[in-house]
Amino acid sequence: MERIVLLAGGAGYIGSHTAVELVKKGYQVVIADCHYNSSPLVYKRLKQITGRDICHYNVDVCDEEALEQVFEENQIDVVINFAGYKAVGESVRKPMKYYRNNLNSTFALLSQMKKHGVDRIIFSSSATVYGMNNPSPLTEENPLGPCTNPYGWTKFMNEQILRDTAQTWDTMSVVLLRYFNPAGAHESGLIGEDPKDIPNNLMPYISQVACGRLKELSVFGDDYDTHDGTGVRDYIHVVDLAKAHVCATDYSLNHSGVEAFNIGTGTGYSVLDMVKAFEKVNGVPVPYQITPRRPGDVAVCYADSSKAQQILGWKAQKNLEDMCRDSWNWQSQNPNGYDSGA
Ligand code: WQD
Repeated sequence: MERIVLLAGGAGYIGSHTAVELVKKGYQVVIADCHYNSSPLVYKRLKQITGRDICHYNVDVCDEEALEQVFEENQIDVVINFAGYKAVGESVRKPMKYYRNNLNSTFALLSQMKKHGVDRIIFSSSATVYGMNNPSPLTEENPLGPCTNPYGWTKFMNEQILRDTAQTWDTMSVVLLRYFNPAGAHESGLIGEDPKDIPNNLMPYISQVACGRLKELSVFGDDYDTHDGTGVRDYIHVVDLAKAHVCATDYSLNHSGVEAFNIGTGTGYSVLDMVKAFEKVNGVPVPYQITPRRPGDVAVCYADSSKAQQILGWKAQKNLEDMCRDSWNWQSQNPNGYDSGA
């Protein structure tokens, strides 16, 4: 019998790629998403890729009553919680908005899971839970916090809520996936990252500069203690990240307790490494200027992902060239994201 996986917030960038990989591995997928930061056009694209109509509900994951119907109508085996606001800068300006939404979605899910005897959850966490004081490569043994912004704290707090809940529920499986910096898109160019406003993250910003939608990239600081002075991060191809969710789903079926995994490549690239690689791979210019540092940024952040390899049997397969090529393939086919066309 096909196992059913509920993707809460599953129409977004990471959820949609995960849906593809889960279907490929024989899982049945149900998406619950209110399209606050995703497009309903994604379902058509998912059908083009997978050949399947993906069961989906237009519900706010914080709305427990609406969620109830999803749990009533589907025998869910595993929940993956992707639902959450993710703009770091906005979270500083509107902390309540972030705490309310990002915590309530987990509360609503946990409450429905309890009610319907669903005891496995995978949570979209982030490298940001390690705060500013740990040296890279980061391992899961590093102490957590203090986080530098409310968005980061919501990831930190969600992890704690899940750990505490697991303490009260013998059979419960909690898998915390701490993402490093997702980049790239599905190789078909049919799904990808589609930021609602001006992008906050580096790769979508570079793509939008390359296609002329934005004038130039601001490189936030060139005086860090790195090989070229710009910030170093661990960029991970979104399809590799999606596959980590499939491995975590397989794992959760025979697991109880709480386990956290770093999901990165283990290699750090600077902002200028990214700009140069993008220009070289795609043959397009990416004009930039150096500007002051962005508050809250660390110089270097990359993963030790050996735990995920040992326990989940997962390892990133794709490289920087793949990320640059696939981001551009998506961006150039969809210059205005999902609104670009059919
Ligand atoms: C990467 C590097 C910037 C934009 C955050 C969250 C994390 C995750 C990803 C959210 C840094 C530099 C960026 C730009 C630049 N979650 N940069 N110009 O800050 O590592 O991680 O986003 O979705 O949880 O903390 O990612 O892509 O913002 O920045 O120079 O216009 O690029 O300074 O060195 P970050 P990022």
